[in-house]
Order: sequence, then structure tokens, then C-alpha cells
Amino acid sequence: MNRHPFARPRALLIASSVAFVGLLLVACGETEAPVRVVATASVVTTTATPTAAAPAATPTAAAATSCAAYAKAADPFLLRVVDKQRALPSDFTAPDRQLVDDQWAVPGFPGQSMRAIAVEPMVQMLSAAQAQGVRIRIKSSYRSYSEQATTFQFWVNQLGEAQARRESATPGNSEHQLGTTADVISANSGTGWELVEQFGALPEGKWVAAHAHEFGFAISYPPDGEAITGYVWEPWHVRYIGKPCAAEWQSSGLTLVRFLERLASAR
Ligand code: DAL
Ligand code: ZN
Repeated sequence: MNRHPFARPRALLIASSVAFVGLLLVACGETEAPVRVVATASVVTTTATPTAAAPAATPTAAAATSCAAYAKAADPFLLRVVDKQRALPSDFTAPDRQLVDDQWAVPGFPGQSMRAIAVEPMVQMLSAAQAQGVRIRIKSSYRSYSEQATTFQFWVNQLGEAQARRESATPGNSEHQLGTTADVISANSGTGWELVEQFGALPEGKWVAAHAHEFGFAISYPPDGEAITGYVWEPWHVRYIGKPCAAEWQSSGLTLVRFLERLASAR
């Protein structure tokens, strides 16, 4: 089975130690970044609450029944293209973030946060998987500009710059900064909860590929998509684009970036 080239048992070990003392190890482009330790409280806004029941940040968008209506109602960041060419401002901080209950986080990675509009769909997706005997958890979700900078530098140090650029976004260029993106993974992916490519071939990864759109999520980096996306396959990286748009994206067969470009030009 094709393993993502960089198993990181040492990082896992460090992650466990860090979790033990109650700190959050911020996950990086593919997996954890042991050089970056941030107190959980600094990751979320002071208004963050651990709930899946809080009101959506943009109720009109959340209620939209067509992708066109969702696109019209959505704030500019919900469907914004973020890639190697199109960066977010360094001072963009995803608004209205909420903590996702720790029961949905990978053990040792508590304090995950996402924009309110994405929290309930995420919990619904993970719950639905669990009800079908598929245990998937969040390893990384919102990452600030500076956390992404640290993450990217970590991978440059680990892999060299050329390989790091295939796997991790430079600061400003990560969908994780939007607050609507998460890396979801299972323990059945090789070495514990590591973000390894073989996840895509496992039942859990196949479940995500088959069902994420039903909950409003798209997989941003498909297999063989590097020529378009600039990144290797990341079967764990999902971005919330709303149910109607996710359904359209799935049936379009387009890479997410192309789908979002098409949506933007239609607006
Ligand atoms: N791993 C993806 C590309 C990120 O760093 O956002
Ligand atoms: Zn990711």
C-alpha cells in the first residue's frame, strides 16, 4: 500500500507528551508540527463555545437550497479560492469560530475550532460515520496565518523546500486559515492517526470520499490533481462549501479549485 512518504512516529510521540500537559499541538499541512505548541485558548476567539448547536454564522447561506442561492448569501470567504496563487490577507482571522467538542478530535489533539457554519455539519458527518462503524476524527482544523507559517517552516526543515511545497501551504495560502477546513483521519491509516495517503484506500477514507459532500464538504486535493492544485493527494483534507454547492461539486467531477473558479465567474 502506498504510504505517504513521511511517517512521523517521533512527532506522534511528542504530540502525546504535549497533550498530556494540556497543550495543543498544532497540526500542520499533512500532520502534526511538533515545533509549534500553542495554548488551546489562543487558538479560538473568546466567544468560542464547545457546541454543535450554536447558530450558524450566516443563517441565510446555511438555509440555501441551491448552490447559486448559497453563493449569493455566503460571505466572501466561504467560497473563496485559496491556493498557491491566491492568498488570504495575513491579518485575516476566520470569524465566529467555535470549539468542536473534543470527543470529535483525534486523541491528543483537543481544542479544534471551525467557523460556526461548519461545526454542526462536521459533527453530523463524524456522527454519521460513527453510526456506520467508521471512526473518523479531526486532527487539524483552523490554523491562523502565523500557525501556518510555523507549520510550513517545520516541513521545510523536515523535507526540504521542494517537497514541503507539494504538501504544505505557505502562510496565507492555506484553506485552513478560512476556518472551514479540517483534516479528518482514522486510527486505521497506518501508524495510529497519521495523515497518510493510504487513508484514501481504507474504508474510512473511502467513506469520506463517498459521503463528505452530503454534509457540505469537498475534498480539495484529489489523487492525480497536483498539476491543478499544486498539492499531492490529501484524502483527509475537507473544506465546507455548503450542502448545495458540495452536491454540485460532487456531480461536476471538477477539482474544487476549478469548481470555485466557475462559481465565482458565474456570480
Ligand atoms: N496541506 C494543505 C495544502 C495546507 O497546508 O493547507
Ligand atoms: Zn489540510
